Amino acid sequence: MKSINVGILGFGTVGSGVVKILRDKKAFLTEKTGMEINVKSICDKDITSKRNVSVEKSLLTRDASDIINDPQIDILVELMGGVEPAAGYITEALNKGKNIVTANKALLAQEGQRLFTLSRDRGKSIYFEASVGAGIPIIKALREGLIANKFNSIYGILNGTSNFVLSRMSADNCSFAKALQEAKDKGFAESNPSLDIDGIDSAHKLILLAYLCFGRYVDIKDVYIEGISRVSSADISYALELGFQIKLLAVVKKEGDALEVRVHPAFIPKQNLLASVNGVNNAICASCDLVGELLFYGPGAGQFSAASAVVADIVDLTQDIKAGLFRPAFNIVADKSIKRLRKADEFESRYYIRLTAVDRPGVLAKISGVLAKYGISIASVTQKQRMKAQVVPIVMVIHEAREKELRAALNVIDHMDAIKERSVVIRIEDV
Ligand code: HSE
Repeated sequence: MKSINVGILGFGTVGSGVVKILRDKKAFLTEKTGMEINVKSICDKDITSKRNVSVEKSLLTRDASDIINDPQIDILVELMGGVEPAAGYITEALNKGKNIVTANKALLAQEGQRLFTLSRDRGKSIYFEASVGAGIPIIKALREGLIANKFNSIYGILNGTSNFVLSRMSADNCSFAKALQEAKDKGFAESNPSLDIDGIDSAHKLILLAYLCFGRYVDIKDVYIEGISRVSSADISYALELGFQIKLLAVVKKEGDALEVRVHPAFIPKQNLLASVNGVNNAICASCDLVGELLFYGPGAGQFSAASAVVADIVDLTQDIKAGLFRPAFNIVADKSIKRLRKADEFESRYYIRLTAVDRPGVLAKISGVLAKYGISIASVTQKQRMKAQVVPIVMVIHEAREKELRAALNVIDHMDAIKERSVVIRIEDV
């Protein structure tokens, strides 16, 4: 029986999960694949802390070149996270003839195009199933299962940590800080959790989905990104009152000759399936020409969810190696009808707006006057409390409007004497 040697860079939450699966399920995987997968070497800067799997000391190293330069290692599994030095190690490993498995969406969003080109030139593969939706096999589905389809849009909830935080705030009245700490304790959050909360992690994943579905590598500076840090418990309870749930939504969709790529909190109608996606779960909806609408759902973060996808990639590579196959990660075919990226000014939707205003006669009239001047129509307005000489929240729902006009109107409103805090604006998405 042929055996395959694997070297792992990064012995953190996901890395130790992968080693544990490869150890605990060795016989099961060998029986299924006809190949024996050996973990030959593991590199991490910390090789002394206890993990949930014990390994022989001889396998551990602090020096990545022990893996990169080992000719007996066929597959390098990169699970260290961050762009550098991971990108440099993957480049060296490809040049040494190794295949790559990575879960590193930040790295692929930034360096993916160069690395995919290099891997093709070297006749080696980069597999990256765990980089989006962790254990949800979305990359394989888009790359293989839906190969005959053209896509109209792909959107959903791509960050487990922020979904966990919003769900805990919404269902249990939990504070933002406490919910985030729980997500960290459970191993869902990135080592820098602002990547989760500020929408960057969702944007990295969205860039990969856009590449797979539309053949276009979008620069992160062209993705409209807004995180969840300005979503307050008041917004969450107003959302519930109005019949919505707040979710951090990631969307890439074709609008005429343009591609719209955005990540932001959104009010989702309660009856929409995405509104029921709670906790660490992710959900990815794909709209394509042959199959129609598809929904992929499941845990989008967590040790064994991500490790399951990494092991699936390793197994895929063992099969390629056994068959003497080289399957470049995918053949990217650019959608030639897309000529440009849409600017945020052009986005159109309904909106929820929360203003903090002094409670006195005429304030509401002035606000609605400004909105009218910019052609913006109000669907509903509620003043939540009455506190003489104090400020009160005014909650508005706005009919379909263009972002450009709305921002211009709010700029005027936010500068009015009666307005005491910057307005909060959340898009309402009937996805
Ligand atoms: N921090 C990520 C999340 C982990 O919360 O979704 C999976 O990419």
